[in-house]
Parts: sequence; C-alpha cells; structure tokens
Amino acid sequence: MPEKKRKILVTSALPYANGPLHIGHLVEYIQTDIWVRFQKMRGHECWYVCADDTHGTPVMLRAQQEGIAPEALITRMSEEHQRDFADFGIGFDNYYSTHSDENREIVTEIYRRLSKAGHISRRTIKQAFDPVKNMFLPDRFIKGTCPRCGAPDQYGDSCENCGATYAPTELKDAVSVLSGVPPVEKDSEHYFFKLGDFESWLREWLHPDITKARHVQPEVANKLSEWFDAGLKDWDISRDAPYFGFEIPDAPGKYFYVWLDAPVGYMASFKHLCARKKLKFEDFWGQNSTAELYHFIGKDILYFHTLFWPAMLHGANYRTPTAVFAHGFLTINGTKMSKSRGTFITARSYLNHLHPRYLRYYFAAKLNGRVEDIDLNFDDFVARINSNLIGKYVNIASRAAGFITERFGGKLGREAINKELLQETQKAAELIAQCYENRDYAEAVRLIMALADKANAFVDDRKPWLLAKDPAQKEHLQQVCTTSLNLFRLLTIYLKPILPNIAEDVESFLNIPPLTWRDADSLLTGHSINPYQHLATRIDPKSIPALLDEAQKDMKTMAEKTSETVTDTSDLARHPILPEIGYDDFAKVDLRIARIVKASYVEGADKLLELTVDLGGITRTVFAGIKEAYQPEDLEGRLTVVVANLAPRKMKFGNSEGMVLAAGPGKKDLWILSPDDGAQPGMRVK
Ligand code: MSP
Ligand code: ZN
Repeated sequence: MPEKKRKILVTSALPYANGPLHIGHLVEYIQTDIWVRFQKMRGHECWYVCADDTHGTPVMLRAQQEGIAPEALITRMSEEHQRDFADFGIGFDNYYSTHSDENREIVTEIYRRLSKAGHISRRTIKQAFDPVKNMFLPDRFIKGTCPRCGAPDQYGDSCENCGATYAPTELKDAVSVLSGVPPVEKDSEHYFFKLGDFESWLREWLHPDITKARHVQPEVANKLSEWFDAGLKDWDISRDAPYFGFEIPDAPGKYFYVWLDAPVGYMASFKHLCARKKLKFEDFWGQNSTAELYHFIGKDILYFHTLFWPAMLHGANYRTPTAVFAHGFLTINGTKMSKSRGTFITARSYLNHLHPRYLRYYFAAKLNGRVEDIDLNFDDFVARINSNLIGKYVNIASRAAGFITERFGGKLGREAINKELLQETQKAAELIAQCYENRDYAEAVRLIMALADKANAFVDDRKPWLLAKDPAQKEHLQQVCTTSLNLFRLLTIYLKPILPNIAEDVESFLNIPPLTWRDADSLLTGHSINPYQHLATRIDPKSIPALLDEAQKDMKTMAEKTSETVTDTSDLARHPILPEIGYDDFAKVDLRIARIVKASYVEGADKLLELTVDLGGITRTVFAGIKEAYQPEDLEGRLTVVVANLAPRKMKFGNSEGMVLAAGPGKKDLWILSPDDGAQPGMRVK
C-alpha cells in the first residue's frame, strides 16, 4: 500500500571548519545520505541540508597562524569540504555556512525570545586568561597535571588517563598551550541559558514510554536519565572578545558561544534553500509544522542535540525535532583512529586510492539503528567488496547482458521465467524498505545479498553459456537472461540509496528512467537495452597499504603544522621555575637516601607500583606512579631519593608514606633519581 506523501527535513551535524573531513565523519554523512535517498525514492518530499560550522576559537587561531582572515579560511575549508562530499556522493539539497546573514538573524531572534521569556541570566565568573595572548582560554587550550591521578599533560577539562573531569582551575602546573605561560584567573561577565527551566518539559519530551512516539533511541533515553539525575546546569553561552562569531546584541565584546549558533545553522541552511526552492520556512520550523524533522549526529554531541537544542527551540517558540538519530564512532582495525598509527585517514587521501562507492557499501553493510561504534577492518573491507558487491551483485548483470546484446539485438524477451523467484524478490521491497526506514542498513544489505545469492543460483542452474551452444534453446536463453536482468534490476532498486552512481549506470545500461521504489512492482520485458559497460571493479589489495602510507605522511605534515601553534614545548616553558623560596623553606623538606627493598604491581592500578623503601632502619610503603616506566624487578635493591617527611596520603590502594623523586613528562618517560656510589640508606640529602 503506498504511504501517504511525507514532508521531511533532514540534517547531518555541521562539520567544523578548522580541519579536513576524515572517514570517521563520513560514517555520518553516508548514513544520512542513504536515508535521504531512500525517502526520495519512496516519493516523499525530503530535504537534506547541512553547513560548515565556522565559529569559535580554533578557527580564529588557525586563521591567525596562517596569517589570513577567518573569513578566508572558512571559505577555503567550505570549498574543500564540499568537494569531498560531492566525491562521496553526498547529495545535500543545500550546503551553507553558519557565518551567514540568515544564521545571524535567526540566532539573534532566538536569543531575544529566550531573553524575553526570562531564560537568560548573567553573572560574573572567573576564567583562565592567557596574559601573553591577552585572551580567555577555552579548556582545550590549557594543559597541566591531573588533580586526581597526577598524569601530566592533560587538557583543562578532563584527564585522558583516569577519566576525571574538572575545571581548568583545578589542574596543577597549568599552562596555556598558546604561550606556554601559566594562565591567570580573570573575572568576566557571562551569559547563561537556564536549561533547568526546561527540566520537566524535557523529561516529558524524552519520555522512555515505548507506546508513544520516541524522540531518541532507547539507549540514549537511558543516558539522558543519568544526565537528569546529575542535574541540568545553566549553560554558558557567551565568550569574550577576541572571538570569531556573532556579537550578542547590546553586549559589546561578548559573542555567542559557537555551540549556540551551530545548530541554528540547520535552520539558516534551510532558510537559504527556501529562497531557492520557493519553500515556506514556517511549514518546517513553525510551532504548528506537521513536517518531520530529523537530526543525524554522532554520540559525542548528544548533550547539545537532546537537551540544549530542543530546549532552545521550545523556549523560543519553534517546533522541536521529530527525532535525533545518534550513531557510534568509527574505529579502524579495532582501535580509535590514531594520528600516530597512521589510521587517521582524511576523505581526500581515501579518494586518492579507493573508489568512494566501496566505503558507502561497507559502512552500509555495518550500520544499524543503534548507537554502536563501527569498525573498519581492511581485510573484511576488501573481502566484502570483492565477494559480495562485485562477486554477487555486479556479476549477475555481466553474466547475462552479453547474450542479450549479441544474440537478440539488445532486446529482452517478452516473458521472464521462474516467476516464484521474481515474485519473492519483488515482495522483499517492503521489508527492505522497513530496514532503511529504521536505519538498519546492515539488515537491508543482508536481505539484498541473500536475494543476489538466489539470483546467482538461478543462473548457475540454467547455465546460459551452455544454452548458447544449442540453437534449439535460443528462446530459453533469452528468457533466462531476461529473468536474471530483471532480478538484477530489482536488486539495483534496493541498493540505489547506497550506490546511486552504480544505479545511474544501470539505468542507462537498461535504458530506463531513474528507478524509484515503486518500480519494484513491475518487470522489464520486450524492451531494448544498451550494451553492457563495466559497472565496478574489484579492489586491488595493494591500494590499502598505499592509502595507509599516505595517511601516515599526511599526519606528519599536519603534526609539523600544528606544532607551530604551540610556541614552546620545552620543559622550562611548560613548567616555569617557581617563585623564589628561602633556605628555611627548603630545609623543611627532609630528603633521604633510601633502598628499594621490594617493588610490586598493585592490583587494579594502571600506573602505580607499590614500593617498600628502607630509610636506614625504618621501612616505609610508598606508591609511585612509575609502572609504565619501570619493571618491579629492575627496582629492587637500588638506591634512590625520597621525601621522608611528607604527610601520609590515603590512596585507594593503601597509605603512601613518602614520595619517590622522579623527573620527566610521564608514562614511559619517567626517571627516578639515584645517588652516586657510596651514599647509604638514611643519609639526609641537603
Ligand atoms: N561542529 C560540531 C557539530 C555541530 S552540529 C550543530 C561537530 N563537528 S565535527 O566535525 O567534530 O563532527 C561532525 C560529525 O561527525 C559529528 O556528528 C561527529 O559525531 C561525527 N564524527 C566525527 N568523528 C567521528 C568518528 N570517528 N566516527 C563517527 N562519527 C564521527 O561536532
Ligand atoms: Zn587523571
């Protein structure tokens, strides 16, 4: 039964304008593009908009570093992004920029409405300020030692070592990444969006009730309830100059935080499309809109899209999203994309070595509607493309087409045979459509490939290459080839959202107008087709090492470029000499020669070794964060220096009654001190 025509607006998250697209990004754009193409094939009115996310400190600094205006940088990045997207077949109806008049107008309007309704507050907060660069520092531009586990070189918002989150002011030995000097605290008035005003509305909107329309996936609903339990804090939406963004009305020197205007970019891009396509903005964004609105995003930006964004829209009297669809992250050969391992693959370097359709097919074969990470394993990648996409699907056409062209003047028979298989393949249309609708592309691909197996079995069974040798079988040969080309045509319809370019080539080969989903109801008989042209080739396995090699080189050049932003990474710059102290202060520290008599691993601790040290008669237990740098057996028996009068510290694993002295940035790079020969345990170091 044909569905009634739906009106749908779809977005993907807006990529940052401070860097190139990588294949992790493409998970999202390919996922969304497939869904949109599917909806269009179903005959619905479906619009797909996106834009570059252009504002914020990183863009401003990168432009500075390149010695160009931010506007010039974002223009160039947008061109690069759009070229990459086009080459991967991402069919946006509009690609725009958050640095646009439309965006400025809408974000200002939203802010005014929120402000008028009392959802904006102001207060003065203390913030880290770089006294050399003369600017406030975002958390990511501050590095220091984790206040919880002591890991050095951690960002200002969270520790990669122990997972702690904290305020940048809590970091120890903090320095600005930009100048290398310690940040100072400075007061500044900030604007806040009072998210707490929307708590009960949000709870209702995000209800976990499965009998009602759901706005988020079930696993996301669970995550959200944790966030509700943690309490919804006011959201800091302003940043001080210098900043690249939109100035807040009536607040000179204050700018909207990039995350406030970024999602508004969805509206701005759509507004820009409205002008071109004569659409009504209100029909899609007005409070009474009956259109569907979907945001595809990655799991890292859920907070923004499921709390701030719906609350902002609701508070400013716009409609809220029909649903937010989150996906997981791409891993490569089982691990996070890594610059140092050379698995940080940009869209462009991929394109230099491999055809985009392989990645579209591979991602589709792995994506389902859940928030799960997906892994790109290169062996699996080559195998799936070569044996399934080429070996099963493309193969059907190449086996049948030649006979039709050579023996039958390009004309298909008036009748197909094996009606059961044809009907089964036709009837699968609705089930496959359901899979696409639910974003379970992996299941769609599985169903399609199972049908392809049956089509191939049919050809193997009828053996057209033998029929071709027997003039009495001429008509049968035409029927067999007509049947297999019809099966191929049906599979092409089902794969078209994933492989639009192959579908287009098939359309010209079969000499037919663009295939839509409804075309699965009919068969193609008595029709003239064009000679078969090669549709796709196998992956040459050599292209994988070539790609990884290029990715590695890319990263080296990128690393060289970014190291220029950090003025100085020397130890002295990162840990400047502390303020002067008198001898008396120094004398309070009791340093002793100690012998490590026992060293052992601590169960459950990633970084610690437990040391028993002899201070010349008394023994102490000391926990030292040197596990990655030393094997316990290498330590036993050796002399070192400890702080003997440090107040004992209660740790998760026991009391630490002193401190072993060591130098170095951390992890493997730590070196403990040793006295010269002759020093004895218990001797004071002064
Ligand atoms: N600019 C913000 C989004 C603003 S939307 C109003 C942003 N940009 S991003 O460039 O970092 O990421 C864009 C999208 O790509 C996000 O949805 C993000 O989750 C997704 N991905 C980025 N890296 C990814 C992987 N490695 N794997 C899968 N998706 C990934 O966030
Ligand atoms: Zn830590």
